[in-house]
Amino acid sequence: MDILIQNGRIIDPASKRDEVADVYVADGKVKAIGKDLNDPAEKVIDATGLFVMPGFIDLHVHLREPGLEHKETIATGAAAAARGGYTTICAMPNTKPVVDSREVVEAIYKKAENVKCHVLQVGAVTKGQAGRELADIREMKKAGICAISEDGKSVMDSKLYRQAMVIAKEEDIPVFAHCEDKNLVGKGALNAGKKAEELGVEGITNAVEDIITARDILLSKETGARLHLCHCSTEDSVRMVKEAKEQGLKVTAEVCPHHFTLTEDDIVGSDTNYKMNPPLRSKADKDALIAGLSQDIMDVISTDHAPHHAEEKAKSMAEAPFGIVGLETAYCLANSELVAKGHLTEKQLVEKMSVNPAKVLGMDKGCIDVGKTADIVITDPKEAYVIDVNEFASKGKNTPFHGRKVTGRVKYTILSGEVVYED
Ligand code: DOR
Ligand code: ZN
Ligand code: ZN
Repeated sequence: MDILIQNGRIIDPASKRDEVADVYVADGKVKAIGKDLNDPAEKVIDATGLFVMPGFIDLHVHLREPGLEHKETIATGAAAAARGGYTTICAMPNTKPVVDSREVVEAIYKKAENVKCHVLQVGAVTKGQAGRELADIREMKKAGICAISEDGKSVMDSKLYRQAMVIAKEEDIPVFAHCEDKNLVGKGALNAGKKAEELGVEGITNAVEDIITARDILLSKETGARLHLCHCSTEDSVRMVKEAKEQGLKVTAEVCPHHFTLTEDDIVGSDTNYKMNPPLRSKADKDALIAGLSQDIMDVISTDHAPHHAEEKAKSMAEAPFGIVGLETAYCLANSELVAKGHLTEKQLVEKMSVNPAKVLGMDKGCIDVGKTADIVITDPKEAYVIDVNEFASKGKNTPFHGRKVTGRVKYTILSGEVVYED
């Protein structure tokens, strides 16, 4: 199908374009961009008053397949991604089995062929994510992994992690780091603070994250591996990323919408929809993350979309699994909390949700240009609405944002020239 997107504000930092114009899409590609294009098209989208941007890219998603399909499948996760304006998502390897071999990667890519979003798989660092022996990173690279990560935990053996970084550098893939000192975190469930005390659960201090963040930056410095820091949640992580960049190290960092929107003070009662890892932190941390995004110290907004079944989340704060869904609320939260409040420009939003994730991956994505794959999101930045979990395409309904008033709605998601979502 060919599509004519008329009269939208095209925001494409990669080509330095920010103008009201038309985009003509055919054969899966962008064929023309300009004023008053009059190519006949099967579908015409009136984008007057709307933003036309490169499809969002989420570096951090849990799709739960294979093995945990009661939480999410590749197909439902991809549908949630399409609804959230994403055209590429990176799936973390903490499935059952863990994605630690070429065979598992190939099986996932087969299942992901006809879903509503491009899926890239991340390979585990160690076999079974057990932290003892390296996974076959080179073989997984041949099957097309986009990165390695031990997400859900850190590889505590620094020597082993260093070896993985050397291989990642040779294979030219980034390392996505979940920074958490296993011994220091203990049974921590919430940020070490008033709320954890009130509920009588163990606290997670900032040092749990910061110690491993420092170690990983040092290992990246020694090995030359590209290090991407996942879900940064602390003030000191922002400072360390800033210093690493000043030293010219190959370090990038992401912030999740829940960490720039909420603090531990927002946790309602003992609602486990506020439990994720790393946890909601203090106001000082949240403010530092927002300043880091605003000053372009922090490169990427990712979701850490972590669907869980309602029965699992119904457990106590101490026992329930960590994680919240994020694909269908990321854009409206970034728009409401960052752009509308003056912390980010629209251009910066596109950089953090499309352009920079593509750079981290080293892939030719995150732009709208003639000849490029037509992965496009169209949003209404002014539309106000209330987030309703019942509308989610994800199997996971575990969000603290149900009932929240936001502005900014995804209207269309176009994947390789096909409309895969229309509001
Ligand atoms: O909140 C989280 N959920 N953090 C993680 O590190 C893992 C993830 C999951 O897999 O549920
Ligand atoms: Zn993680
Ligand atoms: Zn994660």
